[in-house]
Amino acid sequence: MPSSKDPAHNPSAADPAWHDLDSRIAVAGHPVHAMLVAFPIAGVFATAFADVAYWWTSDPFWVRAALWASGGAFAMGCVAALSGLGEMVFVPGVRRRAAAWSHAVAAMVLIGIVGASWAWRLQEGQAAVLPWGLVLSWIGLAVVGIAGWHGGKLVFEHQVGTAMAPEDGAAAEPEPPASSMNGKSLS
Ligand code: HEM
Repeated sequence: MPSSKDPAHNPSAADPAWHDLDSRIAVAGHPVHAMLVAFPIAGVFATAFADVAYWWTSDPFWVRAALWASGGAFAMGCVAALSGLGEMVFVPGVRRRAAAWSHAVAAMVLIGIVGASWAWRLQEGQAAVLPWGLVLSWIGLAVVGIAGWHGGKLVFEHQVGTAMAPEDGAAAEPEPPASSMNGKSLS
């Protein structure tokens, strides 16, 4: 089975920059992007939930809830995208991977959909929800799944920002000395 680590099958693996995957937009080694993406993802889910709740109950509370949820998802999506863009620009091993570009394109499509959904709700008020607000929030759910899936692949398959040796699952931490067990000294 050809391996992406083998330069014979993946010429990019011969380039040292391919293996440079350490996060540059990080706080104490924790990638900021991974911390921020929870907010737009939650906002997309909250918008879809509020739309279904309005469809079910006709209570205008849910119209306002979806307006705020979609606005929050858009604002936090833009902030999260900036941190992701920073990783693309400053981490050579990230921008060399097709998976990073698939993720970035899906994420930008998502931000476009969420922004359109928010603008439509601002403009139309209660009339925005049925049917087009609901349609946009369901499309947003599908696209957040695609973008999140590709983002997860970057971390779990390619080890982007995990401070591990690239694509082999080996810890970057030094091995404990031979005279120790589970990191504790035997003496
Ligand atoms: C709303 C927009 C976005 C969402 C919801 C999103 C979602 C995600 C998720 C779920 C992960 C996996 C994090 C983890 O499991 O730790 C991830 C990683 C990543 N994303 Fe995004 N992303 C967005 C925008 C972007 C954009 C626009 C770019 C690049 C231009 C980008 C680049 C990256 C990179 C480089 C990683 C891996 C390293 C890291 O976590 O910093 N993302 N993203």
